[in-house]
Amino acid sequence: MKIIPAESYSNLSEIAALILTEKIKNTNKVVLGMATGGTPTKTYQILADDYKRNKTSYRHVSTFNLDEYIGIDQADRNSYYYYMVENLFKYIDIPREQTHIPSGTAENLEQECKNYEQKIAAHGGIDLQLLGLGSNGHIGFNEPGTAFDTLTHVVDLTKATREANARFFNGIDEVPTQAITMGIASIMKSKEILLLVAGESKSKALDQLLNGKIDPSFPASILRNHPNVTIVADQSAIKHINIPAELLG
Ligand code: PGA
Repeated sequence: MKIIPAESYSNLSEIAALILTEKIKNTNKVVLGMATGGTPTKTYQILADDYKRNKTSYRHVSTFNLDEYIGIDQADRNSYYYYMVENLFKYIDIPREQTHIPSGTAENLEQECKNYEQKIAAHGGIDLQLLGLGSNGHIGFNEPGTAFDTLTHVVDLTKATREANARFFNGIDEVPTQAITMGIASIMKSKEILLLVAGESKSKALDQLLNGKIDPSFPASILRNHPNVTIVADQSAIKHINIPAELLG
């Protein structure tokens, strides 16, 4: 695991976009794991700008998103499908059939979970997984207490997560109570992980990730066992944290 300190959120986003475009340009066929939420929006904006200016092509890229709300239709502005189209996919040349997001409205959700895992495997696994960090330590929607061996599954969202995401809805009552998410084992199978941590509200979680114990009560802690994780964190997230020297490279 290594950590790249960024001066600001903008700088963090530039670094993340650079890591992603390097991967896209230097790999013949690449499978990216995508994240939603507030943190990666600027990274996606930079990728969209880069496409406009430099025409970095995504024709050889496939994507798999981490998660989706249950009961929210793709066309709903709060679906993660909608988020990905609006923030990135509509600006780049990725064929839409190469983008994958679990369906939160599938009739058989258990089957949807199995199919999603199979699709990832059929693509040869994820080369680079982009991740955000929940202030409660969740990755994807793997909430505290999730076993480390879980694959894609249906979860009940915690009150903390629903409260954190209420800002995107007209109040907490509209936030779905369940989601479908890649599991911790699905995430850990990615060949490389890029974790973005921005803002003071994530500082405690980052501290626990770096210095706490590896335990399912704090799902992100498992990332310390992954052989290839890069964390990009901005000043507000790291300023009060003791960063182990070996992580700074
Ligand atoms: P955020 O969410 O990027 O909206 O802060 C991250 C997460 O909860 O995984």
